[in-house]
Amino acid sequence: MTAHDAVEVILAKRDGGTLTDSQIDWVIDAYTRGDVADEQMSALAMAILLNGMQRTEISRWTAAMIASGERMDFSALSRPTADKHSTGGVGDKITLPLAPVVAACGVAVPQLSGRGLGHTGGTLDKLESIPGWRAALSNAEMMAQLESVGAVICAAGDGLAPADKKLYALRDVTGTVEAIPLIASSIMSKKIAEGTGALVLDVKVGSGAFMKDVDDARELAEVMVGLGTDAGVRTVALLTDMSTPLGLTAGNAIEVAESVDVLAGGGPADVVELTVALAREMLTAAGREDVDPAETLTDGTAMDAWKAMIRAQDGDPDAALPTARESHVVTAPATGVLTRLDAMAVGMAAWRLGAGRARKEDPVQAGAGVVWHARPGDAVTAGEPLFTLLTDEPARFERALASLEGGYDVGSSDEVVAQPLVIDRIGG
Ligand code: URA
Repeated sequence: MTAHDAVEVILAKRDGGTLTDSQIDWVIDAYTRGDVADEQMSALAMAILLNGMQRTEISRWTAAMIASGERMDFSALSRPTADKHSTGGVGDKITLPLAPVVAACGVAVPQLSGRGLGHTGGTLDKLESIPGWRAALSNAEMMAQLESVGAVICAAGDGLAPADKKLYALRDVTGTVEAIPLIASSIMSKKIAEGTGALVLDVKVGSGAFMKDVDDARELAEVMVGLGTDAGVRTVALLTDMSTPLGLTAGNAIEVAESVDVLAGGGPADVVELTVALAREMLTAAGREDVDPAETLTDGTAMDAWKAMIRAQDGDPDAALPTARESHVVTAPATGVLTRLDAMAVGMAAWRLGAGRARKEDPVQAGAGVVWHARPGDAVTAGEPLFTLLTDEPARFERALASLEGGYDVGSSDEVVAQPLVIDRIGG
């Protein structure tokens, strides 16, 4: 590899230039090894945020991050593989019902997941509320479970895209998370290294998402679909609404319970709709458009796959889930219709109740979170419960209530702005 000088690479991007393949390969490798210092990478990340990157640069940057670690290979499995990645939202438990639905349709789901940071929850945090369930699997265990059960949701090991692990932590503390080239390469380096054959991206748009604006979300989706396709992964993206939180719960155990309701053929209509829409995309991308994922929710096969998936990782799918020690009810201020429920307000409240963490090393409370008893368009009655706040520590109620303030409106039905859940589809 040709050696470069970190300052030369920073200056090139600071002045609006295009980095060469050789500069990109070198800077990612040298940063991973510790030869480029954090302050130098911070300056480069800020220059990228301010000046952007060409698609060719993003593609090379992604390849260099993949090359910094191991790449998994599921081609020896007897069935095709498909995975889903969500850019993160409030009440976004979709992975939980989705993985068993797709497995029940004959396509294997190798999902390497993360823990939550900030107001969006992490899939592993939710699953860890199930007694006994463990997130850490060896590659051999993952492979065996994919063959026997057809779905694995587990923690990404340290071997996958280590350059991203370092860079993501740095971006978090240097105000450089929001750069589209950096978000796209971060997500796609991990998903391509994970070795899935097909990938469906759920790019969230709205107050509770990274991308507040639909044009930014579309650009992010287009860049990620291009990166996946260039790497030989059949990739499609759905842009979906995150101005309102998904379902009726945001937290950990309460989101697992809601997912189990969906797997039992019930659950909130929006969670069912998005689960089925994403399952259809995953199955089509994996060459199985002939099967109907909706049927697995009514014939019990998705529930069977869920129980097998939880048991394979030492969890007890029939055990009672943990509950919070304290609850606080917020009642509807007037009789009418809930006209707005803001995803960010709900996400912040759940986070402040202890469902999420402020720093990577913080624990989360399994029982904490927010339940809302109405969705926009639903009738509400003055004095009846609108929200139930849950936590083990009652001192947290005050700040959670402050987050919810101004986050919802009650009015008349003609004030409800109907927003489709799936806004657009990109790729495929
Ligand atoms: N998720 C990631 O993995 N990386 C980002 O940069 C943003 C969201």
